[in-house]
Amino acid sequence: MDGPDDRISERIGERIVELRSLIGHHDERYHEADEPEIPDADYDALLVELRALEADHPGLVTPDSPTQRVGAAGRSTFTEVAHRVPMRSLDNAFDVEELRAWSERVVKRLAVNGEASADADEDDGTPPVTWACELKFDGLAVSIRYEDGVLVQAATRGDGRVGEDVTANVRTIDDVPERLADGAPAVVEVRGEVYLGLSAFAALNAAQEAAGDKTYVNPRNTAAGSLRQKDPAVTATRDLSFWAYQLGEVVGGPEPSSHHETLRWLSDLGLPVDGHVASFDDFDDVVAHVGAVEAARHDLDFEIDGVVVKVDDLALQDSLGFTARAPRWAIAYKLPPEERTTRLLDIEVSIGPGGQATPFARLEPVFVGGSTVAAATLHNADQVAVKDVRPGDTVVVRKAGDVIPEVLRPVLSERPAGLAPWVFPTACPACDEPLVRPEGEAATFCVNHACPRQVRGRIEHFVSRGAMDIEGFGEQRVDLFVGEGLLDDVAGVFALDYDRIAGWEGFGETSVENLRRAVETSRERPLGRLLFGLRIPHVGTTVADLLATAFGHLDGLQAASIEDLEAVEGLGPIIAASVHEWLRQARNVDLLGRLRTAGVNLEAPVTDPGDEVNQVLAGMAIVVTGTLGGHSRDGAKAAIVARGGKSPGSVSAKTTALVAGEGGGSKLVKAEELGVPILDEAAFDRLLASGILPG
Ligand code: IVH
Repeated sequence: MDGPDDRISERIGERIVELRSLIGHHDERYHEADEPEIPDADYDALLVELRALEADHPGLVTPDSPTQRVGAAGRSTFTEVAHRVPMRSLDNAFDVEELRAWSERVVKRLAVNGEASADADEDDGTPPVTWACELKFDGLAVSIRYEDGVLVQAATRGDGRVGEDVTANVRTIDDVPERLADGAPAVVEVRGEVYLGLSAFAALNAAQEAAGDKTYVNPRNTAAGSLRQKDPAVTATRDLSFWAYQLGEVVGGPEPSSHHETLRWLSDLGLPVDGHVASFDDFDDVVAHVGAVEAARHDLDFEIDGVVVKVDDLALQDSLGFTARAPRWAIAYKLPPEERTTRLLDIEVSIGPGGQATPFARLEPVFVGGSTVAAATLHNADQVAVKDVRPGDTVVVRKAGDVIPEVLRPVLSERPAGLAPWVFPTACPACDEPLVRPEGEAATFCVNHACPRQVRGRIEHFVSRGAMDIEGFGEQRVDLFVGEGLLDDVAGVFALDYDRIAGWEGFGETSVENLRRAVETSRERPLGRLLFGLRIPHVGTTVADLLATAFGHLDGLQAASIEDLEAVEGLGPIIAASVHEWLRQARNVDLLGRLRTAGVNLEAPVTDPGDEVNQVLAGMAIVVTGTLGGHSRDGAKAAIVARGGKSPGSVSAKTTALVAGEGGGSKLVKAEELGVPILDEAAFDRLLASGILPG
């Protein structure tokens, strides 16, 4: 019999294999696909854990371990660079009203600061402000440091205080001079945007296609991925460009008194400065200018996502200063979501894991909102009818950032004669069983629980990250296993016939072993994950965790009456009824029985009352806005509530603080007006830990 030591070594061996496979997966997401799934810090933690285990068990180190790769210093193969002058972000204005409101705040603050100069408007003491407008380039910010005119360092923005050293990669960019023109100061840090031009992006994708390789999704992510290549030779093939727009640290040299003088100086030093800069004294002209830029955005060979308006006078900039995250003297006017027309080739219906039949448009591919769109959702039968879009129509498509593309309307003047309206199909495209629209509902469903599309969807969800999180069990494998008749429901995941799989292409010994181990490990996931994985109607991660904590074990949950369920804090009658009914349906009782037999963990972890987080935010009202890197919006709110605080949806005089992530808009303005402290993410993390607001 194995002794405990053997079992421990076996577990360590398993964890090492798991870590290597995870790191391999995330390397692929990061370096090949340019689509990292986890933050750098999480990736680095995996490597640190692997290194520590290998250091304790040198016998388990293999030559192919990621720790053995040359230059493997974690995902941040790049050394850190502390920015001597922080690289700040910009606040956003999403419409002309917000833009004007910003200009009014600027003028008011300048007047309060006593900046109303002698030539101020006599009636109201309003100081004259010149507004400098430039394009908001959609790339990634870098700071390039020149000493005595020679490029010595280039760094990414990072968190604004510390970035990554990408000097070798930036040197490959043709636009970036190695040496500045004569007269360069002792030190000058040039801030600007690295981007991939649209024609360079198209050429890169054409080359990828010709080589039979995967094409890139959009220029911005490709530029970011290219700049963070480990091998500068790869960056050099990407044809990146650069626009300079701001100064960081400067020692010596002339002292420009305005932003437009700064730009002229940068250009004189030999740096690329975009020609679409314009200055206006009258804010109406600024508003007209942003309209003109919007109309002309497609004439550019690079992507922009807005117009940056800056107070031109640097002395006035100084007087205005900064908020916690952004200058008061500048704002990013974000262009509204982009719209394009294209041909609607066909309307098809996709079947979701719950059987929902969703119509979607197949489109002639069109580049809109930063990526190529070939399909867009049409939501439901009513939406198609209301929009009256028909296969063969020319349609208007909209996409904003990462938002799912949408078909807005047909261009009726271009509708070919005799085009028939689209009719919702009556049979499921996957299993040919009837599609049914329940009375009073907008959605239509395939009612066949055994429909292969539904089966796949349920299993894909079950194995996904938020649920049982089975590494190496992606959509393609689910498709394959279901298609080959190896799997027909989620319990089958624990009864896979590995002997059969082992013979298939792409399933080498290690790969099958990794999969087997990943499935085994997942058996131990806590009850909340299992419940979420089962796709019980109305049960998302939060409700799943509430149920798991309240009942502790599946037995308790199965025995619970509707009243017991309703008594759970956070559960309303609709959810309670839905859970109660689901647990009593014969096929679900059978499924739970098979999961039980398969040895899946049915318990919630016992929480030690000592684990409860300290109620450090009791009595505080903390509003969250914008996108935070390390927390989802809901996660941030939950963290506040778990510490005894409240997280209302809007800022008022009672708000203790506003946590502002990337892209916060009107809440920031309100907070500033009311003098509510604004916290960046780092300050928020400190607040969560200590309950102390920064002084
Ligand atoms: S100025 C202290 N000017 O937008 C002010 N930023 O959303 C620093 N950006 O991090 C920024 N074009 O990456 C400035 N003409 C421009 C810009 C610009 C693009 C980016 C930059 C910044 C982000 C903020």
